[in-house]
Amino acid sequence: MSNTGQPEKTEKFQPLSAPKGVPDYVPPTSATFHAVRSEFVRQAQLAGYQHIELPIFEDTTLFARGVGESTDVVSKEMYTFADRGDRSVTLRPEGTAGVMRAVIEHNLDRGQLPVKLNYYGPFFRYERPQAGRYRQLQQVGVEAIGVDDPLLDVEVIALADRCYRAVGLTGYRLELTSLGDSTCRPAYRQKLQDFLLDLPLDEETRHRAQINPLRVLDDKRPEVQEMTADAPLMLDHLSDECRAHFETVTGSLDDLGIAYTINPRMVRGLDYYTKTCFEFVHDGLGAQSGIGGGGRYDGLMAQIGGQDLSGIGFGLGVDRTVLALEAEGVQIEGVDQRVVAYGVGIGEQAQKRMALLIDELRANGISADMSYGGRGLKGAMKGADRSGAGAALVLGERELEAGEITVKNLEDQTQKTVALDVHEIIDAIFIPDDANEPGEV
Ligand code: HAM
Repeated sequence: MSNTGQPEKTEKFQPLSAPKGVPDYVPPTSATFHAVRSEFVRQAQLAGYQHIELPIFEDTTLFARGVGESTDVVSKEMYTFADRGDRSVTLRPEGTAGVMRAVIEHNLDRGQLPVKLNYYGPFFRYERPQAGRYRQLQQVGVEAIGVDDPLLDVEVIALADRCYRAVGLTGYRLELTSLGDSTCRPAYRQKLQDFLLDLPLDEETRHRAQINPLRVLDDKRPEVQEMTADAPLMLDHLSDECRAHFETVTGSLDDLGIAYTINPRMVRGLDYYTKTCFEFVHDGLGAQSGIGGGGRYDGLMAQIGGQDLSGIGFGLGVDRTVLALEAEGVQIEGVDQRVVAYGVGIGEQAQKRMALLIDELRANGISADMSYGGRGLKGAMKGADRSGAGAALVLGERELEAGEITVKNLEDQTQKTVALDVHEIIDAIFIPDDANEPGEV
């Protein structure tokens, strides 16, 4: 009541939506999302990549220096703001720069090399949202730092391939190239730039040719593709060392039976790449077809103030992998968020006892839930059915007095009465008893 004695009008708020371009994962899709991410991390751990938990935001300088000022990611897409102490911070648009910063800060690069780390979580890019392109995106990534061995490139690529296969994905392909390194790329870049600046390019593309000529090769417009059809390619201008490195990578992928196509026009959206670069592409996804990518980044650590060590890694897009699984109609096995047992207590005492029982079941590793809110038998049984549980545990006042409980199998509708003891109940849930007849509760 207000002080005038009149009832106050309650203000009606408009329901809110998630910020534009930010996906929610609700059941049942959330189970697939979780399963994909867990499986990717499990595979990384199988290959010796230990977990690193990174901050969600970093000093803006890290990304400007690490990812590169000329990239779209840094120049157009970062969520950058001043904190209350007026420091410029940025929500991480990717993981590699943060991993390098942490490796240097914690001297991980002073021990055994390569340092092999995995990470997962959200990243933020202010991109134009569309199907499969989000402003909060989720990746699982790995980085292997400190050894410039082409076999390590192969390990990382093979690991990505294994991750996709492990979740049941088949309709994807691997594209591969080499971007050279500081010994051969500058001269190539100059050659490409000279070629491009001789073309009748529009103003914007000409500008791009000046700041990042390699990106022009990735232009999807047919007229630009036509004009650049004869452009010099990095693959034809590799140093002997880079060429040998790339040949070992492709040869070892052949040995492993991992199929790939060489795409000499591949351009990655981040500046730090050198030598091997790769992308996994899924054709069921429309324009946003990259389900993961990575490569070598041999100058990055020195670039952000560390030793001059090499590195290679990948970021696998969890969102797009979930979409790709949907496009292929693949269900991940064992993805089930439903509980095994659902308690139905009838009457106050039975409900209190049920709360103890489901706690005991959980302590024994059996997922369990129960009907709350004092619902009657019919409503509570409906709740049991809706929960998707395999068994309903029905406890009325009479059973409570007798120290018994009814375990009803919700799939075949059989039921049996057992002692009100957690182990007896677990046996009754899991050991089918052919002698039982379908029954009513
Ligand atoms: P990236 O290619 O920018 O690489 O991103 C990796 C993957 O994240 C993409 O292939 C895609 O599946 C997913 N992804 C990127 N942007 C979006 C978006 N807006 N919406 C949905 N999914 C997206 C990196 O981030 C590098 N840090 C990978 C790396 C690690 N390279 C070396 N080490």
